[in-house]
Amino acid sequence: MLRSVLLYLSRQKQLRRWMETSPSAARLTSRFVAGLKLEDALVVTGRLQRECILTSLDRLGESVTTFEEAAASRDGYLEILHTAAARGFDATISIKLTQFGLDLSQEVCRANVEQLVRDAAGLGRMVEIDMESSEYTDRTLKITTALHQAFGNVRAVVQAYLYRSAKDIERLCALQLPVRLCKGAYKEPPSVAFQKKADVDGSYVSLMKMLLERGTYPGLATHDERIINEAHRFTRERGIPPEKYEFQMLYGIRRDIAKRFVEEGYRIRFYVPFGEAWYPYFMRRLAERPANLIFLMRNFLRG
Ligand code: FDA
Repeated sequence: MLRSVLLYLSRQKQLRRWMETSPSAARLTSRFVAGLKLEDALVVTGRLQRECILTSLDRLGESVTTFEEAAASRDGYLEILHTAAARGFDATISIKLTQFGLDLSQEVCRANVEQLVRDAAGLGRMVEIDMESSEYTDRTLKITTALHQAFGNVRAVVQAYLYRSAKDIERLCALQLPVRLCKGAYKEPPSVAFQKKADVDGSYVSLMKMLLERGTYPGLATHDERIINEAHRFTRERGIPPEKYEFQMLYGIRRDIAKRFVEEGYRIRFYVPFGEAWYPYFMRRLAERPANLIFLMRNFLRG
């Protein structure tokens, strides 16, 4: 119930405008968002790199409504790629296709992303293409697959809550396309997605095993300790070495586990979001774990 309310609020424009311009709200989000500017994200990236934690940079922003905004997103990401590479950061970038015009024109979106992927390939960097709600799944995978075949430096994202995901993983493994596996963060109807946490978790574990056995350098994106322990058990049992896959986590969540991973020799990448349009991202993180509201209120009352 609370999750649905928070997801509903994540789409409310007035509340969003108020939150994004309120200095006290911005202070509260610093746990999950690296800052408003690229420079803030690069400071975080540098600190994480010194701790042997890999990063993926995400300039926050979702669906754009004009071609000019889509081109501006592309240019913003080009700046991220080139600046991070010039500073010697081995960071990937994570993008959402609706930021590049997917709602306006599939062709224009693809052209924008292609420019980014081509530049990234020249710099020896990967582009991770996030998965949004299920209305975008087919179009997103189509563009991701085409770019993989053309350049070979993209990673697709598959959401374990969708019934279709085993078939998608079969196909992506056959193409040797790297996959990030996550549980899924959007509100989806029972016609397309598992609704119960136990079912989503069960699906995650079986898809994770498919990826570990047959995938190309999968990214296991979860903070779920039970699932992480199962990944450790399974990889040990099958003799899959730690350099064949990586764990991925969101900046600000379960830093304790990340630290332990590095000490034990596992690869871990933090998804580092930054930018002025942080509101929907932040509300989705609250919806995942309403206990964060308590954290938020405590900080708010502290002043
Ligand atoms: P689950 O929600 O069951 O949480 C397990 C435990 O993790 C909790 O008990 C808690 O300890 C901790 N935890 C989880 N979320 C927390 C939070 N917000 N605050 C504090 N603690 C928290 N989704 C999507 O639809 N498309 C995408 O492209 C991506 N990309 C992506 C990249 C990366 C690197 C990650 C880690 C996640 C995504 N996601 C995503 C989000 C994903 O689908 C999912 O919503 C969250 O990761 C939460 O699910 P968990 O697997 O952590 O499990």
